Amino acid sequence: MNPDSPILLFDSGVGGLTVYDALRKVLPDAPVIYAADLAGLPYGTKTEAQIAARVAGLLGRMTERFSPRLVCIACNTASTIALGMVRDVLEVPVVGTVPAIKPAAALTKTGTIGLVGTEATIRQAYVDDLEAQFAGGKHLLRIAAPALVGAAEAKLRGERVNPAVIADVRDRLVAMPGADDLDTLVLACTHFPLLSEELAAAFGPGIAQVDGAAGIARRIAHLLEGQRFAASGPNRFIVTGPLNGAAGLEAALAARGFGPAEAF
Ligand code: DGL
Repeated sequence: MNPDSPILLFDSGVGGLTVYDALRKVLPDAPVIYAADLAGLPYGTKTEAQIAARVAGLLGRMTERFSPRLVCIACNTASTIALGMVRDVLEVPVVGTVPAIKPAAALTKTGTIGLVGTEATIRQAYVDDLEAQFAGGKHLLRIAAPALVGAAEAKLRGERVNPAVIADVRDRLVAMPGADDLDTLVLACTHFPLLSEELAAAFGPGIAQVDGAAGIARRIAHLLEGQRFAASGPNRFIVTGPLNGAAGLEAALAARGFGPAEAF
């Protein structure tokens, strides 16, 4: 294994940076290429066929170009739809990001969990399977929150988050039948932990938030155990579509050790 071979983290936008942040804690020296499919953002409002074709096609081309040692689909929407297909076509290990229902089920005291994701994620059979496997006997309330994706993208570009967007998600969730004793939220979209403070303020201190980032980082570290890392430069942040899609992200990227955004 070439020691400068990167880990490729892929998302529709900046959400996968929440996985990147967790990964840096466990593998600080690993070279990373982060790919944001800004030309395809948002995934959550697309069809399964559109997402699967796009993600498999892009990851095939990116794997050829960058020769990563491992690919992480740092996106719940893409993973719950296309993980199996991507694993079939790539020859490198592929780690997915799926809703953290298992840890949430272990954490909840009341048994009532809110699963906040994109429209596409919350309707996936993959989520039905996770629920059946890990949350039997619990009450899982699924809610689509597409506006949080844009809010997280804006926040990372230094823009103000509109509190009405967060309040709307809270209001719709707490109005769902059975939501009275809600005590845990699964942030089932990698963008949403970027809004953790805003969500905590809106939902109040009694509601725990769970996401998969730390678990995914540990899984990647486990799969790469014993491998050598020698980055030949700063980590790379690649975007699809016009490069100005990354305008405003300069500070967030520099703080995370990325060079300037590059076009794919
Ligand atoms: N970050 C993605 C996820 O984890 C979705 C955002 C989008 O709709 O593109 O689901």
